[in-house]
Amino acid sequence: MRVSNIFVLLPLYGAAVNAQTPNLKAPPPCVRATPAPSECQTEARFNEFAEAFIVTKNITEAFTFIVEDYINHNPLAQNGSASAWSILSPIWASQDITVLGTKFRGNMGWLNYRSAFGTVVDRFRWEGGCIAEHWDQNETFPTD
Ligand SMILES: *[C@@H]1O[C@H](CO)[C@@H](O)[C@H](O)[C@H]1NC(C)=O
Ligand SMILES: *[C@@H]1O[C@H](CO)[C@@H](O)[C@H](O)[C@H]1NC(C)=O
Ligand SMILES: *[C@@H]1O[C@H](CO)[C@@H](O)[C@H](O)[C@H]1NC(C)=O
Repeated sequence: MRVSNIFVLLPLYGAAVNAQTPNLKAPPPCVRATPAPSECQTEARFNEFAEAFIVTKNITEAFTFIVEDYINHNPLAQNGSASAWSILSPIWASQDITVLGTKFRGNMGWLNYRSAFGTVVDRFRWEGGCIAEHWDQNETFPTD
C-alpha cells in the first residue's frame, strides 16, 4: 500500500536532513484568545503564519500559531502539534517551496504551494486566533 511506503521514507528523509541541521526545540503552542480576535485580525495572523511556513520556512515561528490539541487530518500524523512538529521540524528548512497562493475566509485559511511532496493545498481552521485543525487530503484552493 502506498501510504506505508511514505511512512517508511519520510522518517529516513528526515533523519538524513537532521544529520546536517541541529535539532530544533518546539516553541510554546498557541493559546486561544478570549474573546476571539476578529476575522480581520485572524487573517493578519494567517498571513504571518503563511509567511513563516512557506516563505521564510521558519518552522519554529510557524508553530507558534498552532494549538497543542491541534486536530490533524494528515494520514501520516497523529493529532496534536507535537506529532506534526516531529515530522516537519527536521525537514522543513531544506524544503524547496514555490508559493502558488494563499487565501483566508471566515475562520479558514488555505495555502497552495509546490514542494517535494508535490502540489499541496492545506486548509487550516482558526479558533481564538490560533490554528486548531488542518486538512490536506483532496482539498481544493478556493477560486473565488
Ligand atoms: C524563527 O522564528 C523564531 C520565533 O519567532 C525566532 O526566534 C527566530 O529568530 C527565527 N529564525 C530565523 C532564522 O529567522
Ligand atoms: C483526531 O481527532 C479527531 C477529532 O477528535 C478524530 O475524529 C480523529 O479520529 C483523530 N485522528 C487520529 C489519527 O486519532
Ligand atoms: C481523495 O480522493 C481519492 C480519489 O477520489 C479517494 O480515493 C480518497 O479516498 C480521497 N481521500 C480522502 C481523505 O477523502
